[in-house]
Amino acid sequence: MKKIALAALAAPAALAAYAFGAAALEDRALTFPSDYKTTFTSYLVADRMGQEDQIMIMWANDTARKAARAGEAMPDGSILIGEIWKAKKDSSGEVIESQIGRRIPTEMAAIVLMERKASWADQYPDDMKVGGWEFEVFSPAGENLNKDTTACRECHQPLDATDYTWSHDHIAGGN
Ligand code: HEC
Repeated sequence: MKKIALAALAAPAALAAYAFGAAALEDRALTFPSDYKTTFTSYLVADRMGQEDQIMIMWANDTARKAARAGEAMPDGSILIGEIWKAKKDSSGEVIESQIGRRIPTEMAAIVLMERKASWADQYPDDMKVGGWEFEVFSPAGENLNKDTTACRECHQPLDATDYTWSHDHIAGGN
C-alpha cells in the first residue's frame, strides 16, 4: 500500500494531470450534489501527499460511509468529494504552517468527485477499470470542468484493497 502510494505519486505525468492542466476528453457528466455540505459527512482535513501547497477536505455520503464502516464494499450511489484548497503562503511564497504544524486553507480551488456505479466499469477496457468508480472535477461553485480523468483512474486504480480510495481508513473511521 505504501509502496504503491509512493510510486504513483512520483509519476510526473500523473502529477501534471492532477494539477488540472489536462484537456477535456469525456463529456459524461456526474451530477454535482450541491447540498453536500448539509447531507454528507466531512471525514478528513488533510495536507495533500503529492501537492505541497494544497489541502484536501474530504466528504462522504451516508451510502459510502455506512458500507465502509461495516467493512463492506461501497455500493452503487456512493459519492466521495475532495475540496481542494490553496495553502496560505508567506511573502516569499513559502507555505506557512500553523502552530500545530498543519497547512492553513485560504481559498478553494476545485472539487474532485468520485461516484460509484458498478455498471460504469463496462465502459472501460480492463486496464482502465476502477471498480465502477467515475471521476470528475468541478469548480468551487459546482460547474463541471470537463477534465480528462485518465490520471485520476491511473492513480486510484491500484488501490483495490481499499475500494480504490486513498482515505478508506478515515471513511470507515468513527466520525
Ligand atoms: C497522483 C495520484 C492521484 C491522482 C492523479 C488523483 N488522485 Fe485522487 N487522491 C490521491 C491521494 C493521495 C488522495 C488522498 C488525499 C491527498 O493526499 O491528496 C486522493 C483522494 C481523492 C478523493 C477522496 C477519496 C479518497 O480516495 O481518499 C477523491 C474524491 C479523489 N481523490 C478524486 C480524484 C479525481 C476526480 C482525480 C482526477 C482529477 C484524482 N483524484 C486524481 C491521489 C491521486
